[in-house]
Amino acid sequence: MATNFEILGRENVDDLEAILSVSNTDVDAVVHAVKVEADALFNWDYTRSRPSLIKLYEKAKTSQWNAETDLDWSIEVDQAEVAMANQANIPGGGAADQDMTGTPFESWTEDDWVQLGIEMQNWMLSQFMHGEQGALICTAQIVETVPWIDAKYYAATQVMDEARHVEVFAKYLDTKLSGHYPINAHLRLLLDDIISDSRWDMTYLGMQIMVEGLALAAFGFMHQLTAEPLLKKLLRYVMSDEARHVAFGVLSLQEYYTELTTPEIRERQEFAFEAAVRMRDRFLQQEVWERMGIDPKEVLPLVLADERRPMFQAVLFSKIVPNCKKLGLLDAGDGWLRDRFTELGVIQFEDWTDTGEEYAMLDEVSKDREAQSA
Ligand SMILES: [Fe+2]
Ligand SMILES: [Fe+2]
Repeated sequence: MATNFEILGRENVDDLEAILSVSNTDVDAVVHAVKVEADALFNWDYTRSRPSLIKLYEKAKTSQWNAETDLDWSIEVDQAEVAMANQANIPGGGAADQDMTGTPFESWTEDDWVQLGIEMQNWMLSQFMHGEQGALICTAQIVETVPWIDAKYYAATQVMDEARHVEVFAKYLDTKLSGHYPINAHLRLLLDDIISDSRWDMTYLGMQIMVEGLALAAFGFMHQLTAEPLLKKLLRYVMSDEARHVAFGVLSLQEYYTELTTPEIRERQEFAFEAAVRMRDRFLQQEVWERMGIDPKEVLPLVLADERRPMFQAVLFSKIVPNCKKLGLLDAGDGWLRDRFTELGVIQFEDWTDTGEEYAMLDEVSKDREAQSA
């Protein structure tokens, strides 16, 4: 049985010192190489035998959108205004009316708080963009490695979706915001792990269930939070694609996991746990504090003590937990993953809607087109 140390490189999940010790060293490198060990599989049986994947593939074909023409890029964005409006709602975003005596914020002016909001937004959108590139690479890999023809077809549509997502986030950052951040070290560790695993179903679990499940929740959170119309519509469109992607993961793994043994399932549980912790670590936004000239070790205990923090953090898992349950990962074996998710404080989402059924509801692109032609 693997220990926390073997899975995460630290014994205590909440060890702040250990979390912050993981940071990027090669931030100026433009290219990052990951060795792929997987076999590319041909399948000479072209029979269409998986109705749920066929349906999803047809849905994907009619739900394509064009980032250039379906979004109104002429909308002007006042980033400082957006940052101020969002700030009060984000834990650690800093509320100017709180007593900051004795903290690193003691001497902060209004302008510093605005700058913090701007940096947080640049950081968040940059991580979305890098995560999308991870999805682009993973789904291209799934096209090669998954043995089923219906899954190869579907994954190919997702490759196009992910290219579009990288495109929109990069364009939004470059034309509406004020600077990129390099990929967060915890996110990169996770993406590297997913890409280098030679088992095709691990690519699915890491990307479609964990990374995209979290992305779907995070996009939903930001979509609710922001009043900026361009970002709002962009997120709504990206989310309708992401819901299909998570559904693809749920539908495929549900079938595949029935063939696995208990020890094999246990490895999937451990992988899901590792991914969950890495993604939680990433949300400490350590790079933002460094850029603001503050030692993250000094400020993060304050951020983590914010009473809204556990709620904010937990919501990010609202898609992951029900989907893991649907796959049987929560309770397989001795319920190991249920115990871990209980410790992380996210088990309360287990009975929320799973995304295997939700994607049709979230199809905003088709709804918009129907409204336009009516
Ligand atoms: Fe995406
Ligand atoms: Fe996706």
